[in-house]
Amino acid sequence: MFQRNAKVVQNILIAEKTWLLELECPEIAQKIFPGQFVMLRVKETFDPLLNRAFALYDVCHSPTHHYFGIQIVYVRIGKMTNLLSEIQPGESLDIIGPLGKPFLDSEEYSKNNKLISSDKRYSEIATFIAGGIGQTPFRSWWRFLLGEESYNGKSISKPIEKIYFFWGARAVSFFGRLEDFSSTKIEIFLATEDGSKGFRGRVTDHFFNLFHPQIHPEKSPGLIYACGPEPMLEGLGKWCVSHNLICFLSLESPMACGYGVCNTCVVKIGNPSLWDYQKICVDGPAFLANDIVWDNQSN
Ligand SMILES: Cc1cc2nc3c(=O)[nH]c(=O)nc-3n(C[C@H](O)[C@H](O)[C@H](O)COP(=O)(O)OP(=O)(O)OC[C@H]3O[C@@H](n4cnc5c(N)ncnc54)[C@H](O)[C@@H]3O)c2cc1C
Ligand code: FES
Repeated sequence: MFQRNAKVVQNILIAEKTWLLELECPEIAQKIFPGQFVMLRVKETFDPLLNRAFALYDVCHSPTHHYFGIQIVYVRIGKMTNLLSEIQPGESLDIIGPLGKPFLDSEEYSKNNKLISSDKRYSEIATFIAGGIGQTPFRSWWRFLLGEESYNGKSISKPIEKIYFFWGARAVSFFGRLEDFSSTKIEIFLATEDGSKGFRGRVTDHFFNLFHPQIHPEKSPGLIYACGPEPMLEGLGKWCVSHNLICFLSLESPMACGYGVCNTCVVKIGNPSLWDYQKICVDGPAFLANDIVWDNQSN
């Protein structure tokens, strides 16, 4: 983990209320892996007092192919993101990272879960489900899974064959940089609340319709990775558990420190009659849906 002053390289509007921020931070770029995050702080202000967490969008390289920096994508929502949207190239931010645990691919997951190691669907297919700004961890993850980029010195040994990418937003104007998810091996399914693009309604309903195991038994989503607002993740997680689908939920709870010392970011892990708290910042942010005990479930 590094704490650095990172120079802003670019900070550009890419969709409604959505910016892409590129920071020069070679040490973090070299060590970070998809699924991990950084904590950012605007210098010279104590409002907001606390850092904010942002998922790795992707790493960037210098013209000589050295790790140079990282990109994050954020939506302007409150104190920190309002300040961020005003930041100009050449200014700098405090950054801490890499933080949290990397996503697990089928090979890593199989090490402790022998049941899936012989099932080819999991090593060949993955499904991403993003709500709102929840697409951010998936740009680097698809590039890793399809063998296009290595992260923290690691490349995938056998790239997967197919990714289904479901992304839901309020309206079409919120889909920024769809081209960053463009690959012959990625099939994109969009959903909007106002029907301005793709399926009209919730992205999870779009997914349920297309991958319902009883209606489409021939279709497998492979390993599922989801990120978005908590009610969406709770509904999706419970549905996947009830249909025996393996689903990782990347949680975005508010965090104060980001590295395990303040206990502001806990989640109940276990089962409804026997659970304990884990810290989202160090044990997550992604957890298996089967392991999460939602508040209305616990004793
Ligand atoms: C591991 C992790 C990764 C994250 N990655 C990203 C990312 O890639 N891009 C990104 O834009 N944000 C991301 N977030 C959320 C981010 O950390 C901030 O919470 C968010 O940007 C709002 O900060 P703010 O200071 O602008 O808003 P605040 O002033 O803190 O909040 C303003 C209002 O927005 C509400 N709010 C805060 N966060 C959310 C939220 N996530 N969803 C809905 N309402 C919210 C608050 O309750 C409050 O009402 C991530 C969070 C975590 C824990
Ligand atoms: S944010 Fe401090 S313990 Fe997780």
